[in-house]
Amino acid sequence: MTAFELAMAGYLAFGQLTGNYYEAITKHAGLQVIHADGAVTLRLREAGKEKKEEDGATIETIRLKDERYPFEVTRYIKRWNDCAAVETWAEIRHSEAGPVRLVRADSFAAPVDVASDVVRVMSLTGIAKNEANVSWSSVGNGQSVELVSSAGTRNAWESNAAIMVELGDGVDEERGKVLGVALEWPGNSCCRVRRNWNGSRTEVFSGVDMTTGPYTLDPNVTFTTPKAVLVWSERGRGEVSRQYHRWAHRHLMPHGYDLHPVLLNSWEGSYFSFTEKTLTDMMDGVKEMGGEMFVLDDGWFGRGKFARDEVNKATAGLGDWCVNTNKLPHGLGWLADEAARRGLKFGLWVEPEMASTNSWLYREHPDWVLQEAGRPLVCGRGRTQVTLDFCNPVVRDNLFEQLDAVYSSISSLAYVKWDCNANIWNSGSPYLTADRQPNLWYDYAKGYLDLMARFQAKRPHIMTQACASGGGRMDFGSLRYADEFWPSDCTDPYRRIFIQWGCSQFYPASAMACHVTASPNHQTKRKTPLKYRFDVALTGRLGFELHPKDLTPDEVSFAKTAVADYKHIRPVVQRGDLYRLASPYEKPLAALMYASETKDAAALFALGLMIDGERTETLKLRGLDPDAIYSVREINRGARRHAAIPADAVTGRELMEKGIDVTLCGDYDSAVFEIYSMEDCK
Ligand code: GLA
Repeated sequence: MTAFELAMAGYLAFGQLTGNYYEAITKHAGLQVIHADGAVTLRLREAGKEKKEEDGATIETIRLKDERYPFEVTRYIKRWNDCAAVETWAEIRHSEAGPVRLVRADSFAAPVDVASDVVRVMSLTGIAKNEANVSWSSVGNGQSVELVSSAGTRNAWESNAAIMVELGDGVDEERGKVLGVALEWPGNSCCRVRRNWNGSRTEVFSGVDMTTGPYTLDPNVTFTTPKAVLVWSERGRGEVSRQYHRWAHRHLMPHGYDLHPVLLNSWEGSYFSFTEKTLTDMMDGVKEMGGEMFVLDDGWFGRGKFARDEVNKATAGLGDWCVNTNKLPHGLGWLADEAARRGLKFGLWVEPEMASTNSWLYREHPDWVLQEAGRPLVCGRGRTQVTLDFCNPVVRDNLFEQLDAVYSSISSLAYVKWDCNANIWNSGSPYLTADRQPNLWYDYAKGYLDLMARFQAKRPHIMTQACASGGGRMDFGSLRYADEFWPSDCTDPYRRIFIQWGCSQFYPASAMACHVTASPNHQTKRKTPLKYRFDVALTGRLGFELHPKDLTPDEVSFAKTAVADYKHIRPVVQRGDLYRLASPYEKPLAALMYASETKDAAALFALGLMIDGERTETLKLRGLDPDAIYSVREINRGARRHAAIPADAVTGRELMEKGIDVTLCGDYDSAVFEIYSMEDCK
């Protein structure tokens, strides 16, 4: 079985004849429509097939036409030559006498022809400050498991649009048949796994959620579904994750394998209260610790009485993208130059999809925000935050022009944190006509992607972080134009172990922004050692989110070594293959490692949770060359060693078969090891 064969297996449309006496037509479908004349069935017949090679991939195109209606579907199945991921999507089009309503229009909807007594679905669920919880659900005979996300914007919270379908008993990181299905989409989504009455048939569906109302499709207009990305593994969940990571690096993220900088983000260090001096002091601090970039978070913009400042805080200014000169009299260009003078790159926080009702933009264009005719506005953060109508191209153009002017004023801008702190709560678009209101959800997400694409095309060198009150935009749709996520506003390392564990199931470490913050932690008030905060953050893209002046000289010196150590292992962490060795869901620790594709380098992490007394865990490494000789070194060390390292030189076979005994002790203990092939040291 391959992901390609699974994608080719069909496209379940409502009304198709099945040839089965008991179930004569397909009712559980991924494509379901109401034709212009009110009829509801589809009878699609293959009307042509093509195959072409393009940029290292083979694309199969299958054209399907209805027997009676001028309605057609073109399916695409794209198989990459250099990784096991297969992208599949559909274009839907008709020339009926009037609009057709799409009740469902999934990207993937096919039977999975793998006999198995047990079918389980692994998914990620969450909410603000508690993202990416891993959960499992068994699909019994005659049952469906459905994961719907309906926020409109922060969709990765409710149910991430990526699932793993486990077929058979005993699936784990290394063993078992697993189908990964991930939607490249930042909007509402629905993933379903269904088994028939006796479990002899399993069907998997993934696509845009349309429970908010059918999408009205005019004649001769093409509706394109998002891509569903499939990965098939017969070697457990770990392989599915690795293939997604590889695909994302090679074929999705704008900067692919580029190393992400060690940065300091100003948010938790100063929130809305800063002066130019606060920020330049932060720059000095992060530079001293070995950082490479400074990112100015919320609070820098707005004009006059609507300026975003320590008084207005989050109640004003969204939509007015000009610098607040009361706070930053020298402007952003000057600030970026200050960063450059210290050898730091400069990044900026923006929240383009939003307006405050306390903004000049809203005062001038109240019809630019999503709203329902005749109902009061539902406002979010600060009781003033509303979502702009991204269905409307004029709104998008305005945002593009405003932000483009800001970006032009910072010639050295290298990074943008694109935030989004509200859902679509006002379920109406003033731009769409009354009979098209349900189109809002799909059109909004398309509008967001369109704007992301325009910014990316104009300044391709800029790295973007997709943030939505934390990890609300942890999806492959955003990752086509962004290079990383802010996985959570919860920066407590203990909680982050779980959040990052969830994130790693689908999304690569380079995309996972992990910041060292103050202790006690601002969200949980938990106190943790600096080493622990670092060790957890070293497993992804390391950064800081604190004011360096709050660190003691000893802490600064520890941080310097930690950053230097990170720079050593950064290539293998950010580009390597991930192996999850011990799950925090099963043990009082998480253990994971990254190994380079060439097997010459690796990094191993053991992150304790609440350990009673002392616990020694034998960690059998993965992904090494059995015959190569490696050296193992504990890095980012405090006073204590956590392992009696086998020998200075040890074979990959020993490391993988015998492993390393790592001893952790007490509540927040952790250890990191760097592993290098001795061949490379010669
Ligand atoms: C959201 C983000 C935070 C920070 C604030 C600023 O909550 O997730 O990281 O940028 O907004 O208002």
